[in-house]
Amino acid sequence: MKPLLDKFNRIHNYLRFSITDKCNLNCLYCNPAFEKIKQLKNSELLTVTESFRLIKIFVNFFDFKKIRFTGGEPLARKDILELISLLQPLHFSQGLEIGLTTNGTLLKDKLSFLKNNGVTKLNISLDSLNQDKFKKITGKNKLIEVLSAIELAGKTGYESVKINCVVLKGINDNEVLDFIEYIKETKNTVRFIEYMPFSGNGWSENKFISYQDIKEVIESKFVLKQIIKNSGEVANNYQLDGYEGKVGFISAISDHFCDSCNRLRITSEGNLKLCLFSPKNNEINLKKYLSDISYTDIQIADIIENTLSNKQLKHQDVDELMQLDKNNMLTIGG
Ligand code: 5AD
Repeated sequence: MKPLLDKFNRIHNYLRFSITDKCNLNCLYCNPAFEKIKQLKNSELLTVTESFRLIKIFVNFFDFKKIRFTGGEPLARKDILELISLLQPLHFSQGLEIGLTTNGTLLKDKLSFLKNNGVTKLNISLDSLNQDKFKKITGKNKLIEVLSAIELAGKTGYESVKINCVVLKGINDNEVLDFIEYIKETKNTVRFIEYMPFSGNGWSENKFISYQDIKEVIESKFVLKQIIKNSGEVANNYQLDGYEGKVGFISAISDHFCDSCNRLRITSEGNLKLCLFSPKNNEINLKKYLSDISYTDIQIADIIENTLSNKQLKHQDVDELMQLDKNNMLTIGG
């Protein structure tokens, strides 16, 4: 076992795995032109067996410590629970941390299973606390389902859930203080995420609001006390006096955190992606190797290591990011 280093000596030990490009919501910041995006066929996704093989390679060859399932909506994939149950030994014997980023709408009846099978970290997207606005942003009237899933997560033993809120100027930026009240009595963390540009996602400067501006709104009412970051963490988190919950900021645009990047991504078609914003021609598809037992795990580990040598020191600026072809959040996962 050896650490997976890139040419800038960054250790990579965290895998973000988009297991489907399908989503039951249609969020403004993700996919405003839903019908234009060609969806993958099920046969193009990595199977449970291929996914399990790949994850084992990352853990056994490169000592990966953490995996997070994303999508699309990961719980929209029917056999995700099968994959998670296969990962049990990696979690319980080898200490692999397993997380899930979900929109929360399909979560309620799966919470106990997830908890019992070693999924310890839950991130739930919630962009508005107002029903009409929730529908405007996500296209669906599902706020109540998401709120009750968050509440039930607490009762199922998820003491602290991360709530991801993408802030869009003129749409939900007036709810920042409502979110602070919402986490007051819980141990949850609300994380305000800067709106990032992806191809076709409607990004523009006048819909963008920086984390500094959001932080100022909060600081007009509260004193924020910074919490020391764990390694590899992207959010800057703060405590508020008298509040159980915490607040965090993810500033991928105004203040990128590439220096401490420890992540690799697997897209839903099985591409190894080096950065959320790396161009598609920099990716390598692993499906054909994973599905073929004449390729050994060592050979696949070598392919991963060689591909990593292409990783850039930092991602491009906003203008260039908007030009990237087919850099779509549904296949990459957040
Ligand atoms: N900008 C910022 N965050 C985004 N997400 C999806 N698209 C964007 C975007 N354009 C976030 C969602 C979710 C996570 C998977 O990624 O809020 O929490």
